[in-house]
Amino acid sequence: MDLITPVTPKIAPSILAADFLRLGEQLKAVEEAGIDRVHVDIMDGLFVPNLSLGIPIIQAVRRGTSVPVEAHLMIERPERYVSEFAQAGSDIIIVHQEATPQLHRAVQAVRQLGKRVSVGLNPGTPVTTIDDILDDVSGVLIMTVNPGFGGQKFIDSTLRKVQQVRAMIGERGLVCDVEVDGGIDEETAPRAFSAGANVLVAGTSVFDRQDGPGAAVRRLLACCHAH
Ligand code: DX5
Ligand code: ZN
Repeated sequence: MDLITPVTPKIAPSILAADFLRLGEQLKAVEEAGIDRVHVDIMDGLFVPNLSLGIPIIQAVRRGTSVPVEAHLMIERPERYVSEFAQAGSDIIIVHQEATPQLHRAVQAVRQLGKRVSVGLNPGTPVTTIDDILDDVSGVLIMTVNPGFGGQKFIDSTLRKVQQVRAMIGERGLVCDVEVDGGIDEETAPRAFSAGANVLVAGTSVFDRQDGPGAAVRRLLACCHAH
């Protein structure tokens, strides 16, 4: 491994799978277990065939945790709403490559608000489509399922994209997160980490485990370290 390859996995629990009646308590548990950020999935029923969370949840999560809050915008033309999501307390905003013909404008809009910006890529979108934006983002989120729902099966072919993006970042000497989202569990987390992902988003494998979300986060961290 070269010096610019990150070696510490970071866990980003996706609260889509949380128990909303106990959200504050569950946030405390995952924070104590050593998460990097909280991932909040925003869906508009157009970019993805589902509706999910919105601004009030970002505000509540912001109050309920001290780690960065990441808004994953699965919405058409995300540039329309980035200032609202920043204002609500998002520290990191993910805009999808496929969601706007004005990707550069959307990325710059987030940066001008003083927030970190990542670009999201669906499983069918080649990494070459972010070639011209890579220098401007602090992270690339590679969807490892088709976006829209929690609890789906990890798509193996996405690992090649993780390797490709990590190589592009290495070649340019950039400091940039490579994040994977969808179907990340004890079996797929080490594989994604070995391929070059350093941020692992996990919903079901954190919030739907018998021994609770804190233990689940510790297990995900351990299975990557052990690899
Ligand atoms: C899917 C979302 C994911 C989802 C992950 O569209 O972007 O963040 O919550 O859920 P799991 O970990 O259950 O696949
Ligand atoms: Zn997500």
